[in-house]
Amino acid sequence: MNDTPAPSRYQVMRYNRCGRSGLKLPAISLGLWHNFGGVDVYANSRTMLLRAFDLGITHFDLANNYGPPPGSAEETFGQVLEKDLKPYRDELVISSKAGYTMWDGPYGDWGSRKYLVSSLDQSLKRMGLAYVDIFYHHRPDPETPLEETMQALDYVVRSGRALYAGISNYPPEKARQAAQILRQLGTPCLIHQPAYSMFNRWVEDGLLDVLKEEGIGCIAFSPLAQGLLTDKYLGGIPEDSRAAKPHGFLRPASITPEKLARVEKLNQLAKSRGQTLAQMALAWVLRHETMTSVLIGASKTSQIEDAVGALQRLDFSAEELQEINRILG
Ligand SMILES: NC(=O)c1ccc[n+]([C@@H]2O[C@H](COP(=O)([O-])OP(=O)(O)OC[C@H]3O[C@@H](n4cnc5c(N)ncnc54)[C@H](OP(=O)(O)O)[C@@H]3O)[C@@H](O)[C@H]2O)c1
Repeated sequence: MNDTPAPSRYQVMRYNRCGRSGLKLPAISLGLWHNFGGVDVYANSRTMLLRAFDLGITHFDLANNYGPPPGSAEETFGQVLEKDLKPYRDELVISSKAGYTMWDGPYGDWGSRKYLVSSLDQSLKRMGLAYVDIFYHHRPDPETPLEETMQALDYVVRSGRALYAGISNYPPEKARQAAQILRQLGTPCLIHQPAYSMFNRWVEDGLLDVLKEEGIGCIAFSPLAQGLLTDKYLGGIPEDSRAAKPHGFLRPASITPEKLARVEKLNQLAKSRGQTLAQMALAWVLRHETMTSVLIGASKTSQIEDAVGALQRLDFSAEELQEINRILG
């Protein structure tokens, strides 16, 4: 990006309504879990964020613990916001979360009101923001009463720290209960953020039905299974890939010959559709009407461009879907 964002940005992207809310999200959103931390090259992180915005990606997803070190992705984002994107704050949907370990002691983890409110205050400070657009509880807490966690989400919205509340990694029944509590409190649950990809189909077993019934949007994280659902690992593990990085969450042991054999077949199918495998994998996630957005990660701008290219071909024939099911086994 030069000094100003591309005027074409809103022609490139498509925007989907998030559940039964008034908010629309881009079909492709960008997450800052990897490649935006203190260990990464700031100039590359900045270039990716600005390129994404140029392509109409208005939604950026963070969490208190993204880095490494934890918190540094929010700091990186805060710097780019301050230097480049501040005039466009009202064109952006920025999210953060709390729910995983963030600081020592009993108040820096899980789902207490004590943890959620102080964590969001820290996130706002790191990003230099007055409020986030969406604040999530990052994972269910088996010990804290669900009422307390939902009251904390309701409170952060009422106190102006967040515009909307969301949940992540909640199984179907817990998601339904959370939605009911939030509705009673007067702060509807905007969105659920689950993992979903061709290699991880758990949401098909009840969660998507609950979200549809409750009018909650869905944003699928790791839609490329952290890069496995691309052609990048077909010839071995590239040096600059997530699997090769010491702090990368994708471990080489999970790139099995059995998975690669499936990836090879999927890659052929994608080619026959005139797409890259990454594009087909994203289109496949977006085929559900309840799917508001796919939440990708990236280490280079070309990956973001590739992802946005998925919008050129989102439809699947019944035969193609059957073929994918057959390959996935
Ligand atoms: N709520 C939660 O619990 C939770 C958990 C995990 C993630 N998330 C969110 O979801 C976001 C995305 O997760 P993710 O990064 O795992 O998503 P992903 O889209 O499945 O994987 C992204 C990685 O795949 C590789 N890649 C992407 N496009 C490619 C392409 N066209 N060709 C080849 N390789 C490509 C890149 O890795 P290389 O580094 O190898 O290039 C990239 O960093 C996170 O940033 C975060 O916001 C949320």
